Amino acid sequence: MQASLRKFRTFLFLSSIMLLLSACGRENLTALEPKGYGAEQSMKLILLTTIVMTFVFLVVIIALVIVIVRFRKKKGDPVVTPVQVEGSKTLEAIWTIIPIILVVIMAVPTVVATFQLANTSDQHKHINIDVTGHQYWWHYEYVNEEFTTSQDLYIPVNTKVYVNLITKDVLHSFWIPSISGKLDVNPENINTMFIEAYEEGVYFGKCAELCGPSHSLMDFKVVVVSEEEYEQWVNDMKSFNTDQLELDTVAQEGKALFEEKGCISCHATDTQNYSPGNTPIGPDLTQFADRSRFAGYLEPTEENLKDWLRDPEKLKPGNLMTGTYGELSEDEIDKIAQFLLQLSPSKVTAESKE
Ligand code: CUA
Repeated sequence: MQASLRKFRTFLFLSSIMLLLSACGRENLTALEPKGYGAEQSMKLILLTTIVMTFVFLVVIIALVIVIVRFRKKKGDPVVTPVQVEGSKTLEAIWTIIPIILVVIMAVPTVVATFQLANTSDQHKHINIDVTGHQYWWHYEYVNEEFTTSQDLYIPVNTKVYVNLITKDVLHSFWIPSISGKLDVNPENINTMFIEAYEEGVYFGKCAELCGPSHSLMDFKVVVVSEEEYEQWVNDMKSFNTDQLELDTVAQEGKALFEEKGCISCHATDTQNYSPGNTPIGPDLTQFADRSRFAGYLEPTEENLKDWLRDPEKLKPGNLMTGTYGELSEDEIDKIAQFLLQLSPSKVTAESKE
């Protein structure tokens, strides 16, 4: 009875571990299935160190088993003191030199990869995006293309793209597990790294530094598109002008409310007022209706958007929008939502790539 209970417990334990670990693999969120240069370099190093460590583990375990089985005292064996080997120069040399060799095997490729990833000498030849971390969202300035957007980062496939990272408030960390390693986002200096994605699609990005109560909701998406789609998207973004949108009456009233209530002073809704290096107070909403998520994690549906406008604090604790605008009536919320859901500059969207 006791034994079967123990077996059952072991079974339960192992199966729950299995369940837990099997949930770790999400194709566009895992560093273990690299889809970009930085992630691929990391994966090679992970494999190398795992192989070396497995080798060490096996050697130690095999030696231990041999010693236990072969040299154990059997019935009737005389009591003897084994040959003492302390101070043996040969043995000391062996177990000093082998670990040094193993460390060198791991260290050389690691240092080479680190220097390769930190080499930014060709930065001026490539697309540069200035990324600003905010509690709890990301702002992107496409430096050469001269426009800005937030949250969904669009990049062309198989192309080197430089991201220059800085924060407006506390420390964050920029991480796209499937595509690149992570890099700290500091307030006092710009950290630069390049990313290069090998496959089109939508990838998860994460803030990897505990930065406040909504740190875990500081997600973003990286939309990797073909070169033609990227050009199309850039053109669509640059020419997007809300004053030229054909809006129905409700959305038109929403647009007026958006300005009247002061939302416009924190949130841009098109790319027409671009001024270089200017970081806004709130996320750029230029492609709000094309976003895969808003507030980091919510689907941009009408219901979610209205919930958000009613009480952002409930959905994202510690966000800076809470309490900055007076109470909105249900009618006003509806109108503003109808306006925001018209902000769709391009046919190239996250949805079209999923
Ligand atoms: Cu930003 Cu965590």
